[in-house]
Amino acid sequence: MTMKMFDFDAEFRLGIPVVDEEHSVLVDLLNDCYSLIAEGKKDEARQIFNETLSNYVDEHFLHEELFMAEIGYPQLEEHRQIHANFKASFLQLKPLIESYDDKAFRNALNDTFTWIIGHIGRTDRKYAAYYQGD
Ligand SMILES: [Fe+2]
Ligand SMILES: [Fe+2]
Repeated sequence: MTMKMFDFDAEFRLGIPVVDEEHSVLVDLLNDCYSLIAEGKKDEARQIFNETLSNYVDEHFLHEELFMAEIGYPQLEEHRQIHANFKASFLQLKPLIESYDDKAFRNALNDTFTWIIGHIGRTDRKYAAYYQGD
């Protein structure tokens, strides 16, 4: 049995199926990292963080930006900048992940997790509301 730190609660569903699906993949990847560390499989955890998650974040941000452009979302540029800032700090973290001890890796995971959840719940929610005409 794998221990999950977070279940993708209804609270984080934005009501746009393709977006919700990608967000749940992001959360699953982070959960996988936690589980792997707990099982002592650090190399696998690092690989998921630095490769799979990193690539998926790029992909998701791109999809989201295309979607916002498609619906004519007025705060697209601001949102794009927030994505770019996150990506820049994530990239700085990547080389550290290789040398981090478990505790530091967990902290990095927690920070990433907190950012992603906060971003979905606040920033992404705004374009979803715009799209849904709220
Ligand atoms: Fe998102
Ligand atoms: Fe976003």
